[in-house]
Amino acid sequence: MFNTKIAGIGMYVPENIVTNNDLTEYIETSDAWIQERTGIQERRYAHRTEETTTTMGVKAAEIALQRAGITAQDVDFIIFATLSPDYYFPGCGVLVQRAMKMKEIGALDIRNQCSGFIYALSVADQFIKTGMYKNILLVASEKHSFGLDFSTRGRNISVIFGDGAGAVVLQPTEAPGILSTHLHSDGESAEILAMPNPGTHANHWLKEKLANFVEAPRGEMFMSHEMLENGQNFPIMDGPAVFKKAIVKFPEVIAEALEKNNFKTTDIDLLIPHQANLRIAQFVQQKLQLKDEQVFNNIEKYGNTTAASIPIALCEAWEAGKIKEGDLVCLAAFGSGFTWGSALLKW
Ligand code: ACO
Repeated sequence: MFNTKIAGIGMYVPENIVTNNDLTEYIETSDAWIQERTGIQERRYAHRTEETTTTMGVKAAEIALQRAGITAQDVDFIIFATLSPDYYFPGCGVLVQRAMKMKEIGALDIRNQCSGFIYALSVADQFIKTGMYKNILLVASEKHSFGLDFSTRGRNISVIFGDGAGAVVLQPTEAPGILSTHLHSDGESAEILAMPNPGTHANHWLKEKLANFVEAPRGEMFMSHEMLENGQNFPIMDGPAVFKKAIVKFPEVIAEALEKNNFKTTDIDLLIPHQANLRIAQFVQQKLQLKDEQVFNNIEKYGNTTAASIPIALCEAWEAGKIKEGDLVCLAAFGSGFTWGSALLKW
């Protein structure tokens, strides 16, 4: 059996910087409110028509491939994690295969929102361990700016999210590499952080969960005009409920990874938590009694980029020389579903 190493990493964020003050032009909010609650100062928004979730992912992938010293032709499997795909179907994986002119390799799409990268890493790790694939390209990308409610109605969500992409190339190694991955879910709170439409649910679940939701009438499969007017095409979030669960599950799943590998919190060289909200990351750091230099955050610059947040942060930390060979790196995520997970790796 092989272990899995990250052989190359890349990231891409759009040029367009949107500050908190920029948002005040169309949302009743303030720089002070956003910074105090989330730590976010600015985020990037993709070009509306010229950039997609896939094209951003391809830019990050090109860097990851180049750093791994391989070409697109060498890749033998693609995994793509996103909650904001170019199409309802097919997924972004095949669009990467086409854009990068890859061989007719397998392409898998992962829909685990904020923990998408950890889930994808875990899947890739199994394929590498068994010897099935030698060069897996994992891309995580989000174009949130296309699907947010930029009116005061959606302000608790819209100010949090940003666009961007990260990618890694995974290869077999005889060195330790990925030590373990840990995946969890609890669907009881599926509608607490969700974008129910467009979907095929026809309010089956939402009747109980969201009383004011308008049902799609017969003949209108996904959306009626009334639903659009009611803002039912946008994501919904009970922020305080997400916060309460996240600050329990993050430390729990990090502890699970450490325990499995007989490490203590003091052994962690760098924790990269999913960049959900700086207050959540600070709470986790305090709970685990980690020093500032043991935790990497960059949410202030990019907002929450969901599936892309961990590979973007990992890439920036690596580029800044904060991760060195042999370092113990812990990745952890929590998000919509709820799903959460962790990965412990020796760099
Ligand atoms: N600007 C100004 N005021 C706002 C904004 C805004 N952008 N958004 C909400 N408010 C107002 C509300 O309308 C409410 O006003 P009211 O008291 O007059 O009714 C008030 O602020 C408090 O609203 P809450 O939703 O209770 O605000 P809270 O203090 O909980 O902060 C937040 C909201 C930041 C979302 C917080 O709940 C949070 O951090 N939750 C965690 C969720 C999270 O991080 N989600 C990220 C995505 S999920 C993930 O990646 C894990």
